[in-house]
Amino acid sequence: MEKFESRNPANLEEVIGVFDVTGLSQVEKACQKAKEAFKIWKKTPAPLRAGIIHNFGRLLEKNKEALSKIVTREMGKPLREARGDVQEAIDTCNFFVSEGRRLYGMTVPSEMPNKELYTYRRPIGVFACITAGNFPVAVPAWYFVPALVCGNTCVWKPSHDTPLTSHYFAELLKKAGLPEGVFNVVFGLGANSTGAHLIKMVEKGLVDKFGFTGSTEVGQRIGEICGRNLQTPCLELGGKNPMVVMEDADLELAADGALWSGFGTAGQRCTSLGNLILHEAVRDKFLKILLEKVSKIKIGDPMDESVTYGPMISEKFLKDHLENLKTLVEPHHKLLTEPNGQITAKKKWKNFIGDPDLGVYAFPTIVANVKPADKIYSTETFGPLFNVMSCKNINESIALANGTGYGLSSAIYTNTPQYVYQWKEEIAAGMTSINNSTTGAEAHLPFGGNGKSGNGSRQSGVWVLDQFTKWQAVNWDLSGKLQLAQIETGYVEPDLEYRIGDPSPL
Ligand code: UN1
Repeated sequence: MEKFESRNPANLEEVIGVFDVTGLSQVEKACQKAKEAFKIWKKTPAPLRAGIIHNFGRLLEKNKEALSKIVTREMGKPLREARGDVQEAIDTCNFFVSEGRRLYGMTVPSEMPNKELYTYRRPIGVFACITAGNFPVAVPAWYFVPALVCGNTCVWKPSHDTPLTSHYFAELLKKAGLPEGVFNVVFGLGANSTGAHLIKMVEKGLVDKFGFTGSTEVGQRIGEICGRNLQTPCLELGGKNPMVVMEDADLELAADGALWSGFGTAGQRCTSLGNLILHEAVRDKFLKILLEKVSKIKIGDPMDESVTYGPMISEKFLKDHLENLKTLVEPHHKLLTEPNGQITAKKKWKNFIGDPDLGVYAFPTIVANVKPADKIYSTETFGPLFNVMSCKNINESIALANGTGYGLSSAIYTNTPQYVYQWKEEIAAGMTSINNSTTGAEAHLPFGGNGKSGNGSRQSGVWVLDQFTKWQAVNWDLSGKLQLAQIETGYVEPDLEYRIGDPSPL
């Protein structure tokens, strides 16, 4: 059987696990199991389904430290952030546990007598989902927690970068009491592998809903296949997230925000900073503050609590980052940080913790003099790299922020209410921060993108319920006769000839 390895990106010699690649027939079997289990799961009362999610949340809490350490060892985000990743899943459980006691429909008045109208949320069926490795606990929880509470059964192809984390995610769901067949995991790679097999199951009629977090290109392909099958997938794709710093901003605060947005998680968040857009009146002063802060960060061993960022998720992510530096940085650009590329023992970051040669680490990179026509302006780079651009006013800042075609997250630093109002009205992104970083999604806010960042679907909060349920309208006629709405409705006719004459005292 074909296998793949998971290695620690902070120490490539450490093999975390060897996993079987799930082949086509096994993927089909997993979907069939989910289809079978759906018959019972959809009839399980929603508060009981949510009871299992309550257990899952408690188990995540009890295992938070152990799971966070696995996340860090497997994909390299600093332990402090890995704990946040697990916490976001716990928050999601806490939010949706009570949703199992709501899943509200409406009672609606009928225009006919002796007739009642209702709406119900009904589960969709088998939910198949492919997730990325950068948020290996929070993002799967965003999908599966509401999907399960709503009564769907699931088949999950987690990222091949985080199989051990995913294994334990599934184990905890099992220990929470989820019945056999309701949640199924298939391991493997994406293209020409398990991910591709799972997408084929849509065509086979074994999948009723698809979820995907990953690249825009793959998302477009999944969207086409689902569209042909009259399904609307939940697509969470790339970003080129803008941050604007206006002339009246608190520059210290904004510099902290830019540093975190650009280099937190080594720039490997969907919400990481892509284009930093500076008002020309504060550009130089701001960059001085920012570069001073950047020069002081610690990079290295992600188990160390003090590092700003650790390694890239895997060798491939480092390779892609180095390729971006080669192909996207043009002669007219100015690199504000030196050196760039891979951190090694020979070419070391000043405040490096650990041995860079053991893992896959990259220098922080800031590219200035970027123009809207440059490829780097509108290409997601998914590494510790962001661009710097200048603007003259709020209109220009919004045009630059919206011009990449992406629309996931965004941020503006300003203390002028007029700027904030205009920004909120005109920014194309699905999320925006005022005086905060480009990250900062919470479990009960809608998360999702527009344009190249997604198909408008939203995860989290009450909004995601529309992804995992379909509305059913019921009309119940108790009149004992055939009543025809619209045709026989007893509306009263007005006296349209009536006019108000000269006002005279009554
Ligand atoms: C992602 O990168 O896919 O706001 C999710 C944030 C996190 C979630 C990011 N809470 O950056």
